[in-house]
Amino acid sequence: MQIVITYFFVILYCIPSLISISISPCAIWNTTGITIAGTGISGASPQQLSYPQGIFIHDRKKRLYVSDTFNNRIQLFPLDQSTTTGITLLSRLSHGYKIYVDDDNDDFPTIYIAMNGANRVEKWIQGATHGIQIGDQCRGCTGVWLDKEKNIYMSEHDRHRILKWSPKTNMTTMVAGETDKKGPRSDHLNEPQGIFIDTTTEALYIADLINHRIQKWLKDAKEGVTVAGSSDGDPGSDAKSLDRPYGLRVDEETKTVYVVDLLNNRIQRWRNGAIEGETIAGGNGQGNGSNQFFHPTDLAFDNQGNLYVSEGWNHRVQFFALINNRPCYESSTSTVYSSTSTMLILTWIIMTFI
Ligand SMILES: *[C@@H]1O[C@H](CO)[C@@H](O)[C@H](O)[C@H]1NC(C)=O
Ligand SMILES: *[C@@H]1O[C@H](CO)[C@@H](O)[C@H](O)[C@H]1NC(C)=O
Repeated sequence: MQIVITYFFVILYCIPSLISISISPCAIWNTTGITIAGTGISGASPQQLSYPQGIFIHDRKKRLYVSDTFNNRIQLFPLDQSTTTGITLLSRLSHGYKIYVDDDNDDFPTIYIAMNGANRVEKWIQGATHGIQIGDQCRGCTGVWLDKEKNIYMSEHDRHRILKWSPKTNMTTMVAGETDKKGPRSDHLNEPQGIFIDTTTEALYIADLINHRIQKWLKDAKEGVTVAGSSDGDPGSDAKSLDRPYGLRVDEETKTVYVVDLLNNRIQRWRNGAIEGETIAGGNGQGNGSNQFFHPTDLAFDNQGNLYVSEGWNHRVQFFALINNRPCYESSTSTVYSSTSTMLILTWIIMTFI
């Protein structure tokens, strides 16, 4: 019994680092950031970055991948903040923008890069000396994401559309926007940037940069719906608006949309169905203070719900600790928003051992 109980507590202790917590749509982050990569000054030393534009977190290995755009390299940093000295994983790239890391292989995950300067998405596998082009050309490529079937989505900034390459057919098809047509119509995009696929529904979310909105295109849809920002395509700095949304993440469980609002120097949260967003980090004017941004470019969450933001002109990546994961409904006792999977496993442990 002693052993069983010890085992129980060991598992209980380990679970939080293995399983992602669910982020409540009402969660609060520390608004004071900690710099985990970059010195604030552009440079090419292992401690520095130069206009980073894409970040991706590998949770099992506790690593942060940074697309260090002007240095034409991919840098790796530990999530535990033990050092801010980066390791160069890939170099001599051609202005890599957003990245997606497929962590199927722990030792050297496959890295997909929206290679803006080379007009394509490149796939980098272990030991490669150069990237492999995925699918058709992607002119002024800005974003990349994968779905469960490993279809690869590419954001083709210059032609105002999103492409999808299928590994089954080796074909590239257009899935959002209209080729070379731009504007605020619901079937059009205007210089799309970051993209995200909700792998549970295959809905595609697009940071529609010059339309200053986030568009959601359901699978096989002919037009998008605006889920953040103003659908008429106008920029603004109020809660209903965005000004050059550059990157995004979507919580697949709650459908909350987190937006990098570049020219407003803030991170906005739009709850599912909301008509306005709320600032969860930044929003204190352009600057290099710990509560400020200067051209935020991308965001990511680790599996503990902490927020990471890359900033172009501050040449750094900031960390914002999740400090209160309070549920949206009023409650006097519970502040823990447990994930269903954690609860299921706990139930299983209790049923098995107690
Ligand atoms: C931060 O901004 C201040 C004021 O603009 C400037 O004096 C300082 O050098 C900046 N620090 C860094 C690390 O860039
Ligand atoms: C996939 O298509 C590309 C471009 O048409 C072609 O170069 C390549 O050989 C094809 N790959 C396979 C495995 O058929």
